[in-house]
Amino acid sequence: MTAPAPRPATADDVAAVAELDRHLFGPDGWTDGQVAEELTGPHRAAWVVEAGPAVVGYAVTRTVGDVSDLQRIAVRPDHRRAGLAHALLAVALSRAAADGAGRVLLEVSADNDGALAFYGAEGFAEIDRRRRYYRDGSDAVVLARDTAPPLLG
Ligand SMILES: CC(C)(COP(=O)(O)OP(=O)(O)OC[C@H]1O[C@@H](n2cnc3c(N)ncnc32)[C@H](O)[C@@H]1OP(=O)(O)O)[C@@H](O)C(=O)NCCC(=O)NCCS
Repeated sequence: MTAPAPRPATADDVAAVAELDRHLFGPDGWTDGQVAEELTGPHRAAWVVEAGPAVVGYAVTRTVGDVSDLQRIAVRPDHRRAGLAHALLAVALSRAAADGAGRVLLEVSADNDGALAFYGAEGFAEIDRRRRYYRDGSDAVVLARDTAPPLLG
């Protein structure tokens, strides 16, 4: 089965994304107001993936100058390992490059093995750590990659 394609997020997606975000990130989850800002605010680009009527994945970037910050990429647990985050990241990288960014940066918890494996598979490399960055006391790993894959050879 072909994975559903990401589409640009709109203000109508705020409630569904907020519910999923709080489910996935608990105390670090965004409020409805924060989600509205992330989906529609300045410099943001955001996408969702749907399965039927439900939002099952989303990604948000904030691009300023030559750097794009990947604010979030997340997929509902029952839709993981089906390439949805890969598809979301691909549109985010492509848009960031089109907006003039050469690099993408993000922070992820050092305890988040699944996300670290995903980003590693997608070509991100650790550039820094931020001690006790998250509310649960875990460190953030700062990861980076170029918006275009490196040329072979
Ligand atoms: C990280 C996350 C977004 C990955 O979403 P996903 O849709 O399952 O990822 P994909 O199916 O596109 O995975 C692409 C590749 O990444 C790697 N990968 C993804 N999740 C992995 C995991 N849990 N363990 C090991 N490798 C993983 C694999 O190489 C995978 O390819 P494969 O399935 O063919 O082996 C998802 O697990 C998630 O939502 N986690 C909670 C939210 C989160 O922590 N987001 C990141 C911080 S904002």
